[in-house]
Amino acid sequence: MRKIVIAGNWKMYKTQAETTEFLQGFMPELEKTPEDREVVICPPFTALDAISRSLHGSLVQLGAQNIHWEDNGAFTGEVAGSMLSEIGVRYVIVGHSERRQYFGETDESVNKRLLSAQRHGLIPILCVGETKQQRDAGETESIITNQLEKDLVNVDQQRLVIAYEPIWAIGTGDTCESSEANRVIGLIRSQLSNADVTIQYGGSVKPDNIDEIMAQPEIDGVLVGGASLQPASFARIVNYQ
Ligand code: G3P
Repeated sequence: MRKIVIAGNWKMYKTQAETTEFLQGFMPELEKTPEDREVVICPPFTALDAISRSLHGSLVQLGAQNIHWEDNGAFTGEVAGSMLSEIGVRYVIVGHSERRQYFGETDESVNKRLLSAQRHGLIPILCVGETKQQRDAGETESIITNQLEKDLVNVDQQRLVIAYEPIWAIGTGDTCESSEANRVIGLIRSQLSNADVTIQYGGSVKPDNIDEIMAQPEIDGVLVGGASLQPASFARIVNYQ
């Protein structure tokens, strides 16, 4: 049975004060959320502890946006898995395209971060996806196959979420057709040893396209950027029909 996971990736948005304000608007909306889905919020590191206290005992799980592969050491600016699990983090995004593009993440480092997350009892959300140029060149399948092969070496597929995020659809309002997202996600699933892995779609998910996206048979959830920053829009997404 595949689990539905709806996650908000706040990226580098929201101070602790703004996080508290968000929760005041968002939490009451969860009263009508069906129990068939898991809701995850991934704020910046600085808001994790504050949000962890407010979410305690609620339906919402806490997620981080990155994790280092070592358990500790001289790695300025990085955060280890033990530091995340200590404050109640349950999920962690790994290999987001912004990390790959701006911070030099490679498939090798993504693989090490995935293994570190699992070592610390966290569920990694592995992001894969192609650029516009790669899509136009007909390389979507080969790019994703290559990412999966390298990223998933020795990774336990029983404790894993994958997010298909076509890079050209991120923050652009240019959503991938839901049928096309369904097709690529089916392709991803066919390459996994565990067919029950939760596979999300990410890229310009909004209140007005969530129902159509979630109606697709291969899609088990969404990873939402911009539309997860406002209580009303994220609530609408979480409470999709
Ligand atoms: O990780 C979520 C993301 O990259 C999608 O962002 O703003 O297009 O929903 P957005």
